[in-house]
Amino acid sequence: MSISSNQVIMITGASKGLGRALTLAFSKKGARLAICAREETKLLQVKKEAVQQGAMEVLAITADLSISRDVERFVALTEATFGTIDVLINNASILGPSPMPLLADYPEGDYQDVLRVNAVGPFLVTRRVVAKMLQEKKGSIINVTSEAGHTGYRGWGAYGISKFALEGLTQTWADELDGTGVRMNMVDPGEMDTEMHALAVPDCNYDLVDPNEVVDVFLHLASAESTENGERIQATEFLQKRGALS
Ligand SMILES: NC(=O)c1ccc[n+]([C@@H]2O[C@H](COP(=O)([O-])OP(=O)(O)OC[C@H]3O[C@@H](n4cnc5c(N)ncnc54)[C@H](OP(=O)(O)O)[C@@H]3O)[C@@H](O)[C@H]2O)c1
Repeated sequence: MSISSNQVIMITGASKGLGRALTLAFSKKGARLAICAREETKLLQVKKEAVQQGAMEVLAITADLSISRDVERFVALTEATFGTIDVLINNASILGPSPMPLLADYPEGDYQDVLRVNAVGPFLVTRRVVAKMLQEKKGSIINVTSEAGHTGYRGWGAYGISKFALEGLTQTWADELDGTGVRMNMVDPGEMDTEMHALAVPDCNYDLVDPNEVVDVFLHLASAESTENGERIQATEFLQKRGALS
């Protein structure tokens, strides 16, 4: 997969879990990275690891992507530092209360918080980033979805509903981007061994995917070979088809 060494990759929610794994995978390719999360300590630790892994340059910004002015600051600083953004990965997400309440018992404030971070946040970041991508007639936007955003499951409440919204956003925006040179796709990474999953399924007794195992799907969508637009890619199925997983 050809990722050019100076490609600019923006990753939201990069301080742990899948976002961290993606940051380190693109760092190994020598990319320039703009990463964010709300909490600074873990984010700066990932920045340090990214540089050690070979990233050409890393901009780490604390920002809450559900807040417009934070989105503006993150994107403006990235454009001022790198001049362009080649790939945007909308990865940041929250689960909401743990254990997850049934919808009838779901607190209104939590419901609104989950929708704001998981569904409004990617809209705000993409709307700010896509304008320059359209001028440059190139760009790859990758949204991280979930099986809970594809099928409704008891107890997955606001989280699942927010991912249904993200899937609708992806389909609609991809259609609007058709033929522009800018592409938008979504990846369902499968159930991964992360802090979010531990909160969602605290008594989990089955095998989970290591986030490092699914990064190749994102490397593909970011690469010059990728032509997909508007697709929903289930990571393990995609990698098994390519023979990358047994
Ligand atoms: N884990 C799974 O099994 C699974 C399955 C399917 C899909 N997914 C999806 O995969 C993605 C990554 O999940 P994960 O399991 O790696 O989650 P995670 O371990 O909880 O990490 C989430 C990341 O997002 C950041 N974040 C949360 N809210 C934010 C906000 N408002 N603004 C900026 N950053 C924010 C967090 O840092 P701060 O808290 O410091 O902000 C953290 O870096 C998510 O989109 C998730 O929905 C996960």
